[in-house]
Amino acid sequence: MIRLAILISNSGTGTNLQAIIDAIENKTLKARIVTVISDKKDAYGLTRAGTHHIPTAICLAKEQLLPLLQAHKPDYVCLTGWKLIIPNDVLTIYSQRILNIHPGLIPDTIQGIVKNPDGTEALWNKGKFTDTAIQNFLTAKATYAGSTVHFLSNEFDFGPVLGRCFEKIQPNDTAETLYARLKKKENHMYVQTLKKLCNT
Ligand code: GRF
Repeated sequence: MIRLAILISNSGTGTNLQAIIDAIENKTLKARIVTVISDKKDAYGLTRAGTHHIPTAICLAKEQLLPLLQAHKPDYVCLTGWKLIIPNDVLTIYSQRILNIHPGLIPDTIQGIVKNPDGTEALWNKGKFTDTAIQNFLTAKATYAGSTVHFLSNEFDFGPVLGRCFEKIQPNDTAETLYARLKKKENHMYVQTLKKLCNT
């Protein structure tokens, strides 16, 4: 059974974690969550993990991450709103095995541009954290918002793309209404991506 470590924070509410838990419990995702690690003590995802009897740990300094991971021998490390820098030793040891979800459309090449479903240029939101990124879709008057699941690399908010999702922006959207719809697509996409990696 593929072993997953899920890395969370208080920047979200653990909806991606919950989607992964649900897919494992309904047996559509063949994997096991061996640990949930949070970089903040008040992350709601810790409560979600506790409800499902999944071991949790707090990692307040980036130097603590490698030993915490190695204790659980994960095949994949899944970042869902994690905020601490991933140190180089972790990046090297888990090369092509650390997934991240970014609220922007990451291209396949560093010079590339993703197109929205209507042919307009999609926003990468490189270097923007969640709230700023969602607001940017509205401020830039984009026609679509979107998120990307990718393997982490040395380049910030870039790396081999595993999946993208789009959400059409509605005329009366606020950051809250737009993000609520995008979140549902993110949750689905993260699980679908893991199915491709784990259900072989
Ligand atoms: C996601 O929306 C992701 O795009 C961003 O952090 C959020 C985490 O959400 N990087 P959740 O905690 O999984 O609900």
